Amino acid sequence: MAKIIAGVGSSHVPAIGAALDNGRTEEPYWQRVFSGFEKSKEWMAKTRPDVAIVVYNDHASAFSVDLIPTFALGCAAEFPPADEGWGPRPVPVVKGHPQLAAHIAQSVILDEFDITVVNKMEVDHGLTVPLNLLCGRKEPNEEWPFKVIPLAVNVVMYPPPTGHRCYMLGKAIKKAVESCREDLEVVIFGTGGLSHQISGPRAGLINSKWDKTFLDNLTRDPKKLTRIPHIEYMREAGAEGIEMVMWLIMRGALDEDVNEVYRFYTVPASNTAVGHIILENKRRPAAKGKRSASPTKRAAQVTKLAVRRSKR
Ligand code: DHB
Ligand code: FE
Repeated sequence: MAKIIAGVGSSHVPAIGAALDNGRTEEPYWQRVFSGFEKSKEWMAKTRPDVAIVVYNDHASAFSVDLIPTFALGCAAEFPPADEGWGPRPVPVVKGHPQLAAHIAQSVILDEFDITVVNKMEVDHGLTVPLNLLCGRKEPNEEWPFKVIPLAVNVVMYPPPTGHRCYMLGKAIKKAVESCREDLEVVIFGTGGLSHQISGPRAGLINSKWDKTFLDNLTRDPKKLTRIPHIEYMREAGAEGIEMVMWLIMRGALDEDVNEVYRFYTVPASNTAVGHIILENKRRPAAKGKRSASPTKRAAQVTKLAVRRSKR
């Protein structure tokens, strides 16, 4: 049985990708940002999911204003990095999981979420920057450590989906994954945000108080967040703060009760408040075969898990 084991929220600021690609991560400005993801990289290396569903938004890279799907699920075998004006980022091609993606598409569409099936798509910083933050820098000839199912959400042109719709889609994705018979551990990413506005008279707007309340409620009371109207995101978190509705898809796909195992917040990176959170479902499935070849190793893993749990 497939299972969603954890959710990751992460900003996707393009300048973070440029800092990585241009070898500037040691500069104090960028060190402040990257240092907040050191523990997350350790967590990811330990968690080793088979698949990540990455909820992100395309920034007019794969879709132009000619065609804007509200929810677009990547069902292809691979997704190359998009050319966003400076050539494609020097990162590995993202490998998909067509079988699980097709299963999710069927399940959520039969559940009345009419998503768009995408069989060919390039992915931009919205997806590749969070992958780098959680997996580190990767050369184009390397591989990302897990398969990725991209879920592109329209937050670029009015009207984006409501927070409630996003949360309910997350629940439908949870049901879809749990009805897949393959033995897969899945992590779901919500990306974008936090508060930022990149143009107009309010360019540079950041609202840390609002961001912090959003993160607090994301863990403890996500239903409260589902009632926030678009206008409040725009007013309080800036025009691009609307990206935060995507975090509600991630949260909806988790259990109601979660453990917040990590949080990081820093201001600013480029024009944006960088927010990051890791939420684990409390009920993790038993250690899988591939993770514990020998019975002793399995026993050791279970003990380690128990110790980790008792420390919480
Ligand atoms: C910035 C942030 C974004 O999320 C984005 O998509 C583009 C630019 C910024 O901070 O400059
Ligand atoms: Fe963005």
